[in-house]
Amino acid sequence: MAFGKFGKYYPDGGSYRAEHLDLVSSLGDAVQWFGQHDGQAHEVTFSSDTERYAMQTDAQHLRYIIVNLLQNAAKYAPAGTTISVTLSTRLDTPVFIVADQGIGVPEEELAELFSPFFRASNVGDRPGTGMGLPIVRKSARLIGASVEVTNNPGTGAAFTVTLPGRLGRPPA
Ligand SMILES: Nc1ncnc2c1ncn2[C@@H]1O[C@H](COP(=O)(O)OP(=O)(O)OP(=O)(O)O)[C@@H](O)[C@H]1O
Ligand SMILES: [Mg+2]
Repeated sequence: MAFGKFGKYYPDGGSYRAEHLDLVSSLGDAVQWFGQHDGQAHEVTFSSDTERYAMQTDAQHLRYIIVNLLQNAAKYAPAGTTISVTLSTRLDTPVFIVADQGIGVPEEELAELFSPFFRASNVGDRPGTGMGLPIVRKSARLIGASVEVTNNPGTGAAFTVTLPGRLGRPPA
């Protein structure tokens, strides 16, 4: 156990430990856990184009990614709105999108969003330190995934996580 580069708690210093898991149940369980944690403030939904997707990855880092993105969605979107997690596995690389109906991100600030301590100008009095997304990016790199952010055409933000496929992170 250790603290990561940016001070947030990070088990074993952020190493990569691959295991076989079912991506659909890993994401589904995290979403369900988060929905309870959120006290039903938002409607948190999960959908997938397949019932199972066996793959090799680090379960802990996958969980950091999804939980941090859900925490942000809940913080930056008003109560009563929907937070959706959508998994698509049709391509060789599975992709999941966490989308909310919140305040979104000023377009000119999107590129800076993953920088340590950066907080967008529209956060108002919502509390935060700007360390969630750097952790998401670090965990994503460790498992060979990429993360992108866009604003939804309607309202809100959408974070797209592209995973490296069934075999997980390619050997170094
Ligand atoms: N779903 C979202 N909707 C709108 N803005 C967001 C969303 N997620 C992140 N952001 C913006 O990106 C910034 C960085 O997010 P990050 O999670 O790193 O930090 P934080 O939420 O401010 O604090 P914390 O360290 O507690 O996570 C936020 O301050 C906010 O401006
Ligand atoms: Mg955050």
